[in-house]
Parts: sequence; structure tokens; C-alpha cells
Amino acid sequence: MVTSKTKDFQKVMEAKDQTAPGLHFVGKKEELIQAKRSFRTLEGRDILIIYHEGVFHAVDSYCYHAGGMLQNGDIEEINGKMCIICPKHKYKITLTEGECLYKGKDPREKSPVTRWYSKGVKQRIHVVTESDGNVFVKLSVSPAWIESDYYQGEKGKVERAKAEAAEKKNPITVDDD
Ligand code: FES
Repeated sequence: MVTSKTKDFQKVMEAKDQTAPGLHFVGKKEELIQAKRSFRTLEGRDILIIYHEGVFHAVDSYCYHAGGMLQNGDIEEINGKMCIICPKHKYKITLTEGECLYKGKDPREKSPVTRWYSKGVKQRIHVVTESDGNVFVKLSVSPAWIESDYYQGEKGKVERAKAEAAEKKNPITVDDD
């Protein structure tokens, strides 16, 4: 008997077959919308897929700064850009470019005022596409080193594990600015 579940599964498998090289099926659109945050490992890379205000984003799962898990980070619009706030030390990372934003003053100005600045691209961002209710991620192929790459590698994995163990002993608390 062919049930609707079987048909759905067949559709998904067909969609997978149709994917262009490097395009990974990550889930049904409705499921990812409901989940809001979904963790996937693609080609050995840990990725966070976020659905926020009608838009999908895919970012490296571990914060470039010290490997914090971005999965539970709040999302806020800062200076016109949607950012995920790392739960560990509250760094603000834009979801579309992977830039880290910080507040500061330019001492070269006559009367320095506090404003948002960018530290540049620190977190690797991946491309999300949708087709027929299926969602796909294509990993970023930018050859330049991006700091979040570190926590995807073996050394980074070891450091993350050490930091997690240390944090269990002495939990970190950071105030929002
Ligand atoms: S680990 Fe993310 S802000 Fe430090």
C-alpha cells in the first residue's frame, strides 16, 4: 500500500537525487520552520540552520571566538543587520555575512560617540535554498580562512571539549551591553 508518508519520502528522495553537486538536503521546509534552529553535520562540518522572521540562514555552529554553541543564542537586529548573540560571551554575529559587530568610539573623532563597528567576517555563512518544500544547504567554498573554521577542525574540537568541562566547573556569566 502506498501511503501519503511513503509518497512524501519518495518526493524527498527524488529531490535528493536532483540536487546539484555540493547541495545538501537538510529537511522539509515546514519541519525546519517549526524547529527554528536545526543542527546538521554536512561533509563533516557542524552547521546551524536558523529560521527567523521568514528567512533561513546557515552558519557554522560554533562561535569563532571560543567555540560557544550558537544554537541557543538570541537573535536581534543590530544596526540594521540580523545578528545571533553567542550565549557564551555575547559576541554579535551577523547572520548574512558572518561579521562580528561591536560597540565602540573612534578616538580620532573630535567628540567621539559610541556606535557599532564591524570586526570583519569571522563566522562562515552557508547558502540556503528551497525547492518544492525542501530545503538545501550549499557549504561556503570561500578559500580564505575564516576564524570559525578553527572550531570545525580536530584542534578546535579538543579545545571546545576542554572549555565545556571548565565551564561546567565555573559557569561564565556575561552581562548584555
Ligand atoms: S565563544 Fe562566542 S562570544 Fe565567546
